[in-house]
Amino acid sequence: MTRLNYDKSKQYTDLDTIYAQCSGPGGLRLSDFMARKMGLRTGARLLDIGCNRGWQTCFLAKEYGVQATAIDPWDDRMHGDPMIEHVRRNAEQWGVADSVLAQKIGVPDTHFASESFDFAHSTTTLEMVHGMEGKEGYMAALREILRILRPDGIFGLGEPMHLDVELPEDLLPHVSQPDFAWKDCFRDIHSTAEDIRNAGFEIVEADYAPDARDWWLEYAAHDPFCKQDPDGDPKTLAVDAGRWTSFGYIIARKPE
Ligand SMILES: C[S@@+](CC[C@H](N)C(=O)[O-])C[C@H]1O[C@@H](n2cnc3c(N)ncnc32)[C@H](O)[C@@H]1O
Repeated sequence: MTRLNYDKSKQYTDLDTIYAQCSGPGGLRLSDFMARKMGLRTGARLLDIGCNRGWQTCFLAKEYGVQATAIDPWDDRMHGDPMIEHVRRNAEQWGVADSVLAQKIGVPDTHFASESFDFAHSTTTLEMVHGMEGKEGYMAALREILRILRPDGIFGLGEPMHLDVELPEDLLPHVSQPDFAWKDCFRDIHSTAEDIRNAGFEIVEADYAPDARDWWLEYAAHDPFCKQDPDGDPKTLAVDAGRWTSFGYIIARKPE
């Protein structure tokens, strides 16, 4: 698999800040990767689903020139501030307040008009919807994304997945976390692509990200919750040692 050069994200080198502002593996390099794969272009209308504090949204608005709508239904775990208030403040700091709009909503209940967006993008979010709402909730989210994309619009999904192997027995206790157990949230690339196809999309590309392991190790070293709890996700990733946990991406098109 060919690795990308991450031209637009390589100038952002403060990984502690990036991982404090993002929430999951990959940070801005993941957004750069997804943007290239989706073919994002200046002026396009992008929906970022599960934007968290909006750093990735701001990066895409600044470096790829998109008009971004960022949605997230939750409040932050540290101070209880709505994520969208972080997005608004971050958009000002990044100098992209004119091209980032945040709303406190989630999939599937977005209430956007049909065919409102050229691109929809979601990273490290829908696998949590799968963990919380099961297959039915996951499919409802995908159908909503299809509805609000214009015909020929592109959906880019990047999410934690497991490799196409049996779960190693010694890993089971580590991926059975009380909240968002990885064994319930993570699936392989084939079943994820099948769900996206069944929701009505055409699959353009589906694979495991070539840098998946690097992104997970960066996350273990720099995410603030990982730093607070080395026996949590960092231990899981150390026990796993790359046998099961990965990160997959799917680029899909809404048929015309
Ligand atoms: C782990 S964070 C991922 C943030 C960011 N996209 C990234 O890749 O770092 C997942 C986000 O999904 C949001 N979320 C949870 N349920 C959602 C839903 N039904 N629709 C959209 N976002 C949701 C949470 O509030 C959280 O901020």
